Amino acid sequence: MNIYISNKVCNTEVFFVFNNDNILCKSVSNITNLNLQYLNKSGEFKKGLYSIAQITDYKNDKKMIFLRLGNETELNSEIIRRAAYHLIKYCESNTIRAISINLEDDNKKLGEYIKALSESAILSSYRYTEYLTNKEKNYLEEIIINTEQSDEIQNSLMEAINVANSVNICRDLVNEPSNIQTPVRLGDEVKSLSNIYGFDVNILDENDIKALNMQAFYEVAKGSINKPVLIVMKYFGDSNSDEIIGLIGKGVTYDSGGLNLKSGSRFITMKHDMAGSATVIGAMCAIAKQRLKANVVAVVAACENLISNTAYKPGDIIGSMAGKTILINSTDAEGRLTLIDAITYAIEKEKVTKIIDIATLTGASRRMFGDYLSSVMCNDDNFYSSFQEASIKTGELVCRVPEIEDAVSEIKGEISDYINTSASETCGMITASLFIREFVQNKPWIHIDGAGPCWLEKNKYYNTKGGSGWGTRLLYQTVKENCGK
Ligand code: BES
Ligand code: ZN
Ligand code: ZN
Repeated sequence: MNIYISNKVCNTEVFFVFNNDNILCKSVSNITNLNLQYLNKSGEFKKGLYSIAQITDYKNDKKMIFLRLGNETELNSEIIRRAAYHLIKYCESNTIRAISINLEDDNKKLGEYIKALSESAILSSYRYTEYLTNKEKNYLEEIIINTEQSDEIQNSLMEAINVANSVNICRDLVNEPSNIQTPVRLGDEVKSLSNIYGFDVNILDENDIKALNMQAFYEVAKGSINKPVLIVMKYFGDSNSDEIIGLIGKGVTYDSGGLNLKSGSRFITMKHDMAGSATVIGAMCAIAKQRLKANVVAVVAACENLISNTAYKPGDIIGSMAGKTILINSTDAEGRLTLIDAITYAIEKEKVTKIIDIATLTGASRRMFGDYLSSVMCNDDNFYSSFQEASIKTGELVCRVPEIEDAVSEIKGEISDYINTSASETCGMITASLFIREFVQNKPWIHIDGAGPCWLEKNKYYNTKGGSGWGTRLLYQTVKENCGK
């Protein structure tokens, strides 16, 4: 899809209209106003959000599409993103190949709206066609944003295109099946992305992982014939700062549950248990391409959680890179074991000063929030407030859960330092988060449990079914909020 700014229009013009019939466009022709009045009178153009009406001038081969944005005072970026989604679907079902969208030149928020609009247009057009013999193409090919050119506007558009493409990279990685995308293949993929987007990558193999004493990670990995890798991505964009943000993504390329085997329908979607890592990889692409003024190191401990005669077992006591011992209560609580070693590596070897981890960690989070939002634990109010700001801007919503100090005792062991799950079947999302907190060495830390929104059973506006790409924009924006831009 080609999106660009121009003051030319094409045969199909789009106008955004508020409920009060004001148009988000400064000067409109008399014909436009007359058409709008006609559609209003005839009852074809309803009030409310996202209703669409079209009028065709057959003689001049021109179309006008009107789309409602609701109340003028309530407009925000998320409304624009959802409106863009409705517009794209409308164009697809009416086989419209090109549109020009008329936008007001002197609106204070024009840059923000152009960003939301173009981001959503790209996100809404995504399809996963890798394994289809007949790859149907999208019909809508061209979007002209009709407004005055300026550097600021052009930069907003370029940023939106970059970020949306990075979300689509994340989606592709999540949607790739685990028989193809083994941990080693995921590492290879990151290598090629690093060349395209301009960050460094270092892939550590099984021997390196053992030499580093990453025993918790290795125990999860050792039941599979497909070898684990530790993927380390680096982007240093601010030589004047000592701050290094660590992005840690859960990279379990398939989670069978291990000997605590999953059941029934729980298997089929478990290729997406590396969605956290895909989010981190997508965010690195966006951060590096955008040359953000920030230092970021991303770490992914990639492995499969399978069953074999070498698999770890419930009752085993294992070590960890941090030197603490852990009793395995459930082999299905594998994510936290891979994450704590990745976090220890990031702190000790890469000297990260702040940590964000993202993981499809608990069914409990999904049961609580569905695919509406992710649960977040954070040990630092300042860090959280910039993160929350980013979340509101991108529309990827989160709910902060309390650090219930009394619950820490549930993951403390009697014959080992820790147990990987609490013995009780309650409070699972909190105890999982607290388990990870034990390994962050008091660094400012945000933990995102995306088990709900990272994978969608059906399309939800511009978030597509399957790997949704949830969190990629949020990580990018959080890094942006925390740096000199
Ligand atoms: N990958 C799963 C969590 C998950 C479940 C993600 C459903 C997305 C959808 C994780 O490894 C897991 O199995 N967690 C267990 C933990 C339990 C054994 C304490 C869970 O949530 O059931
Ligand atoms: Zn599991
Ligand atoms: Zn898992």
